[in-house]
Amino acid sequence: MSGASLLTALERQPADALLAVIGLHRADPRPDKIDVGVGVYRDASGATPVMRAVKRAEARLLAEQQSKSYLGAEGDQRYTDLLAEIALGPDLAASDRITGVQTPGGTGALRLGAELLARARAGAVWVGTPTWPNHEPIFREAGLTVRRHAYFDASAAGIDEAAFFGSLAAAAPGDVVLLHGCCHNPTGTALSPAQWRRLADMAVARGLTPFVDLAYQGLGQGLDADAAGVRRLLSAVPEALVAYSCDKNFALYRDRVGALWVQSAMPQTAVPVRETMLVLARSLWSMPPDHGAAIVRTILEDPELAAEWRAELEEMCARINGLRSLLAAVHPALAPIARQQGLFALLPIDGAAVEELRAEHAIYMPASGRINIAGLNADNVGRFAAAIASCLGDTAAAVTPGGTLLPA
Ligand code: LMR
Repeated sequence: MSGASLLTALERQPADALLAVIGLHRADPRPDKIDVGVGVYRDASGATPVMRAVKRAEARLLAEQQSKSYLGAEGDQRYTDLLAEIALGPDLAASDRITGVQTPGGTGALRLGAELLARARAGAVWVGTPTWPNHEPIFREAGLTVRRHAYFDASAAGIDEAAFFGSLAAAAPGDVVLLHGCCHNPTGTALSPAQWRRLADMAVARGLTPFVDLAYQGLGQGLDADAAGVRRLLSAVPEALVAYSCDKNFALYRDRVGALWVQSAMPQTAVPVRETMLVLARSLWSMPPDHGAAIVRTILEDPELAAEWRAELEEMCARINGLRSLLAAVHPALAPIARQQGLFALLPIDGAAVEELRAEHAIYMPASGRINIAGLNADNVGRFAAAIASCLGDTAAAVTPGGTLLPA
């Protein structure tokens, strides 16, 4: 075979369905179009602003940063250590069984964890249905076997606990269970404290390793509440991995800011675990991009900036939860949205209805019917609810252009 024909072995690939929605929305000239597609936080005017504390930290970095020389495969270690206190809490952050490194976004953390698990010869990685569409490819590209377990009960718009734990009973010792730390993407569900405890008991009894994806801390019920389940789990199990993203809670999306923590059963195991993480990171991206992590470090190092960041995050969280209450009240089929959390909800509509919403109402979401709640605001939520109700074959309660629910 000649060298020129090597690349003909590659096949056409489907476009990423979620990223395609961004392009379709952008190309639509209708002025009243509504984007509830990709999962980015939006304010009441539809913008995804740079957070106030981030702007101040960037100004400080611009004035004070002396060098952009290499840091190493672990990235900015002080960033990772300060972030561990936010994500894992002070006790686990101080544990000598836990080691962490900076990664390029939460995806980088998931991929690094997947490579580590492949090196450790992990068994299957169990993912719930549905999950973020990128989860399965990340583990498969690292050479791991992916298996699916039940999770969501669409008719009740909640977790199907019996099916969830029932299907996980097929997991074998050495298998890994991928979990969403909070604000499940795409269903908006959250495990209860009792369900986290049951998972921890199951992991211990059956020799399963939890891998928690914590990508929305602070956007559900608050920073500590959103991490309570992960902390409870790590305190109970010998081994676990946590992939973290600052994309949403610091609104640093394109700067790609993440971290991976790995908990070992014994402190002495944390040493080869860390060395393996560094060797793998070196071959994947050599060193993670610095700017976003330097911003987060600058914020967390300074109590005043950290307080400003927490306050703005609380405002974002309150806006999402206000929209959730409003949506839940406009139509009975949307009522479960009030019981869920974070950016996402999965609407009880099919792909044809999603097409119709796009063609007739200029409303953009992926074919799964997942909506990003933050894409709504006081001015468009009434029109959105009416369009969804017409897809469901009835009418929604009216909402004024200012976002007030009118009595039926
Ligand atoms: C989403 O689910 O919309 C985000 O996490 C963006 C992405 O990378 O898919």
